[in-house]
Amino acid sequence: MADPWQNAMDHAVAVARKAGEVVCDALRGDRAVMTKSSVVDLVTQTDQKVEQLIIQSVKEKFPTHRFIGEESVAAGEPCVLSDSPTWIIDPIDGTTNFVHAFPFVAISIGFAINKQVEFGVVFSCVEDKMFTARRGKGAFCNGEPLQVSRQEAVEQAMVATEFGSDRDADVVDKIFQSLRNILCLPVHGVRGAGSAAINMCLVASGCVEAYYEMGIHVWDVAAASLIVSEAGGVLMDVDGGDVDLMSRRIIAANSKTITERLVKAIVPFSLPRDDAT
Ligand code: IPD
Repeated sequence: MADPWQNAMDHAVAVARKAGEVVCDALRGDRAVMTKSSVVDLVTQTDQKVEQLIIQSVKEKFPTHRFIGEESVAAGEPCVLSDSPTWIIDPIDGTTNFVHAFPFVAISIGFAINKQVEFGVVFSCVEDKMFTARRGKGAFCNGEPLQVSRQEAVEQAMVATEFGSDRDADVVDKIFQSLRNILCLPVHGVRGAGSAAINMCLVASGCVEAYYEMGIHVWDVAAASLIVSEAGGVLMDVDGGDVDLMSRRIIAANSKTITERLVKAIVPFSLPRDDAT
């Protein structure tokens, strides 16, 4: 049977590529910076312009579909995942990287129905890597199949994480406690690309065994969550429970074994949910 969402996925890939051109052009010019929830939670006109470009282009083809977009939510739109077809968009994942021309930025487009992600597209535009996944059909980078690492020994693992944009000292202490516990497992190394979506694509590509973070948002991880699971990976909450894309916490890893070792090392904390009204 023909895939009913192939057309939508093709459109997501095409619009992500177009958005990537806008982002790469802007990287060569001036980038005026504004702030959102804190002085280190950054946004630029390019984030807003790219989100509008994606939403307008999707609306023309799929006028009844809904949207959750990072900058629309920042402007007061609700962050609600209903059963209706919903596009979950981060126009620039890695905005701080973008501001500093640190060359890891991605356009992230997830598409969910009945609250389940059906396809995910992450375009790491500076690297020119188009990551895609369709539920049940595998994950790919520039058309090549992706497979998570087979390494199950945490002592030989590389783990990705980020420090996020909360500078509250108690939160930072908890982040550092987790980091200390993980470094001392020990692991081979800890890395961070500065983009949740790219970190997760690194898990899907087998370059790191795991990524975890507390403080992410649904638009950072929706698309990449499918890319990880379709590459054979595991998604879990940092407390070992089921992953909940609205809870702002995630572990994405190559295996249950590594995930469970990380759960024991992470000091979990709660955050206001993305869908809290
Ligand atoms: C951020 C990036 C960053 C992560 C933050 C995210 P944004 O997304 O993914 O790596 O640490 O938690 O919010 O704001 O650049 O789209």
